[in-house]
Amino acid sequence: MSNYHIKHLEEYFQVYRKAIRNPEGFWEEIAEEHFLWRKKWDKVLEWDFTKPEVKWFQGAKLNITENCIDRHLTIRRDKTAIIFEPNDPNEKAQHITYGELHEKVCKMANVLKENGIKKGDRVCIYLPMIPELAISVLACARIGAIHSVVFAGFSSSALATRINDSDCKLVLTSDGSYRGNKTIDLKGIVDTALDYCPDVETVLVAKRINSDITMKKGRDKWLAPLLKDASNDCPAEIMDAEDMLFILYTSGSTGKPKGMVHTCGGYMVFTAYTFKNIFQYKKDDVYWCTADIGWITGHSYIVYGPLANGATTVMFEGVPSYPDYGRFWEIVEKHKVNQFYTAPTAIRALAKENLEFVEKHDLSSLKVLGTVGEPINEDAWHWYNYNVGKNRSPIVDTWWQTETGGIMISPMPYVTPTIPTFATLPFIGVQPALMDENGNELEGNQVEGRLCIKFPWPSIARTIWGNHERYRDTYFSAYKNMYFTGDGASRDAVGYYRITGRVDDVIIVSGHNLGTAPIEDSINEHPAVAESAIVGFPHDIKGNALYGYVILKEAGEVREKDDLRKEINQQITEHIGPIAKLDKIQFVPGLPKTRSGKIMRRILRKIAGKDASDLGDISTLLNPEVVEEIKKNAL
Ligand code: WT7
Repeated sequence: MSNYHIKHLEEYFQVYRKAIRNPEGFWEEIAEEHFLWRKKWDKVLEWDFTKPEVKWFQGAKLNITENCIDRHLTIRRDKTAIIFEPNDPNEKAQHITYGELHEKVCKMANVLKENGIKKGDRVCIYLPMIPELAISVLACARIGAIHSVVFAGFSSSALATRINDSDCKLVLTSDGSYRGNKTIDLKGIVDTALDYCPDVETVLVAKRINSDITMKKGRDKWLAPLLKDASNDCPAEIMDAEDMLFILYTSGSTGKPKGMVHTCGGYMVFTAYTFKNIFQYKKDDVYWCTADIGWITGHSYIVYGPLANGATTVMFEGVPSYPDYGRFWEIVEKHKVNQFYTAPTAIRALAKENLEFVEKHDLSSLKVLGTVGEPINEDAWHWYNYNVGKNRSPIVDTWWQTETGGIMISPMPYVTPTIPTFATLPFIGVQPALMDENGNELEGNQVEGRLCIKFPWPSIARTIWGNHERYRDTYFSAYKNMYFTGDGASRDAVGYYRITGRVDDVIIVSGHNLGTAPIEDSINEHPAVAESAIVGFPHDIKGNALYGYVILKEAGEVREKDDLRKEINQQITEHIGPIAKLDKIQFVPGLPKTRSGKIMRRILRKIAGKDASDLGDISTLLNPEVVEEIKKNAL
């Protein structure tokens, strides 16, 4: 029998060692005992980080939806799989049982098939957090179509880029979405995007806000009547373990987003096993992750991980501040949530508000609290622990990435003693390494370096859609035979890991990964702009906010600076989305550059962070004089 459910620290160490000594044997046991395979694998693992290539459970056949839905039907057909909590607290919550979910997914899958979607086709899902989102994700998986969910806060041009990059034939969207007291015209955004996406043949539209939208003849179809007429019988497509399950875009250090590709078998095994242990999920628990399914957190820990465990998972459509700042806690009380998983930025925003919003709700159901997305600062950790967890619900600070598919470094509640701001110990099967700048591994404890992973785990992304070379260059070229995470980390005296933040050009704003390059590209498109550079600076709620240094074209028309700032942000909103807007924009005569022309972001970061007293040696810069000028006028 495998140790599927780890119960104490000694057992963790014992299983951890077992999985390091014999990874193939360990994962084979987990896969064999806890999942439904149509055919077992011929080989557990084949890998070569130099190519790079990773294959888990080669030769095995399965369908992930049979694991997430069908196999539960005999024992928990009437158990709630998904609780849908609407934006408006006066609208009734929906409880979708496993039996109903099966029917809904089969119907949706048949609608996709009737609209020409077959195994291997890409389907873009641009939906708000309504049941259709989870259902269409699963419907794609049911028929072997590759889903590409695009967060419904992205702009039309960001959407178009993603649709075209992976050549999606069909888009699923809704008439609009609710967000607090606002509505958003999602269909309008899709229409604009599709002007640039000639290959999209069909748009299926869910009705959510009953707005008056235009339907393009021959292309757009309302979803509801199609679902009503569709058969509820849809046999699952039998997939190879290494067939693609989905693409999910994340930003990188060039303007083009990276379509991370995850495959069926390993992703399923790792997300299910991590979910069980990191949330210590027990049979009748109600679990809630507040993320959007548009991000990897939602894919792995709202949909696939929980459902593979037969769990009840909450999907919340709204925002933490509507109708007031007590909304999260009201939902915890209402649905008696046992595990609550959110982001540090949400905690910081709620911690600023009156404590009454928390105190008036009964939070006694909570057993486990989680955070993800960025390092959690000590104040936020204590606030969460004391006011939400009442000092008795352990906090799991879970470190992972879109690329890792599942949680990599995290405590297990009631197993691993926690320390604020520490992600603590690697999960079973995960082999972290800290590297110095010369490419040597830092052995022993009390060291700090760049975080790499030495050995493949089952849910590592297999490639970047359409660009394997970029996959190799980004993740496998900095350190020989290692996956490089882009993060820095330290290891303390007892071997606990603490993530210190990104060491590359990615900035985490409110838990969202933003590359500097696409934002700079967007700014530079403004007719008055010659060049720009973006850095992050500390922000109370967002963790980091964006600071832009912008050089204007000399011959440009004389304009009000504040108007320009507005226009630049407007342009960023159009190109990327409001999450990428700049908090501060400083117009500068030049940017500090090395002699090879590389922008010295380190200097710009210090100035933006009001920490410019010691900028180090700047004499080797191409243009040291510009630094004083920038400092003098810093915002
Ligand atoms: C980056 C990945 C994984 C889901 C959400 C983000 C940062 C994530 C933590 C944490 C410190 C964290 C890292 C990582 N990050 N979790 N617990 N402590 N930093 O996914 O958008 O792919 O971003 O988020 O910098 O590399 P993502």
